[in-house]
Amino acid sequence: MAKFRRIGILSSGGDAPGMNAVVRAVTRKALEQGFEVVGIQNGYHGLVFDETFPLTSAVTDSIITRGGTILYSDRCLEFKSAEGMAAALETCKKHQIDAIVAIGGDGTFRGATDLTNHGIPTIGITGTIDNDITITDYTVGFDTAMNTVLDLVDRLIDTCESHARCNVVEVMGRDCGQIALLTGIATGAVAVAIPEIPFDEEAAIERIKKLRSEGKRGMIVIVSEGCFNPDGSKYSETLAKKIDAETGIETKFARLAHIVRGGSPTLRDRLTATQMGVKAVELLVEGKSNLVICEIDGKIASVDINFALITDRMYKNKLKPGDLDAFTDEQVAEMEAICEKRRREIEDYYKTSLDVTV
Ligand code: F6P
Repeated sequence: MAKFRRIGILSSGGDAPGMNAVVRAVTRKALEQGFEVVGIQNGYHGLVFDETFPLTSAVTDSIITRGGTILYSDRCLEFKSAEGMAAALETCKKHQIDAIVAIGGDGTFRGATDLTNHGIPTIGITGTIDNDITITDYTVGFDTAMNTVLDLVDRLIDTCESHARCNVVEVMGRDCGQIALLTGIATGAVAVAIPEIPFDEEAAIERIKKLRSEGKRGMIVIVSEGCFNPDGSKYSETLAKKIDAETGIETKFARLAHIVRGGSPTLRDRLTATQMGVKAVELLVEGKSNLVICEIDGKIASVDINFALITDRMYKNKLKPGDLDAFTDEQVAEMEAICEKRRREIEDYYKTSLDVTV
């Protein structure tokens, strides 16, 4: 069993609703174990430039209800250099930080591995609205972002019906279409375009014409921000113009962007964030590190960060030569199975979205 004086906690990369609930859970579980807790501000930047403050039970009071992150968040280039790492280790020494919990996505986990390799046991927690980390079924913030999309699109549906219009809505998600796909199904969108599956534009436009001929007034099309035209411009706006031109239905365009990244976290995010935060401290106490906390088949679990990062690259077709060398054949087969499971899930949701838009 590892004994720490202080545990540090940071959030890095894009913020997500529920990050504060993680901060609260890590702080309180660590206090319960008899450790002190240090908040590191602005992600790895705060570690390099010594921006820290004490986290107490009182400081974390009520933050479970708040979106954003009280630790602030940033992407830090300096941390990637030898000098940056030396400065980060100095900050740890100065504040007697013996272990760190880092909330974020893949960039955050690469930093966590670097810290572990330099003697600071670190555990990652998946926090991003995109749900784009292959190893986990769920990332903190995903549910809140989707519920915000629902709320906003429901409003657009009202006005689309009043004016017999179509509205193309672009939603965030980076290269991952899950926010678009799931909210498309849940808002009754007439078409959904995501980066993972080729979009049949002609069929979608024909469907819109047919639905209008049958009397449907308001129509919503959801497009993931990860869909691009061949020239690299955004597909969502192009599609809105095409629908307008080819169907004769007045078509508006809305980019929801960062508005879905803020707001009070849903019950799902508060709960999962709390479970993940507690688990991270438990694992550190058990002497474990370089793990990422995940949700797999409905259970909170942990996976080696290197395994998680390479599985992610495999899924995104970004494997580099030598990436798999450190893994056994069984581990590589496990990674392939995880990627396949994720592909199948997305295909199943996509099929469902088509099944209900006849
Ligand atoms: O990863 C979260 C996310 O909101 C993505 O959905 C989006 O592509 C990106 O971050 C936007 O990044 P930024 O906040 O730096 O504009």
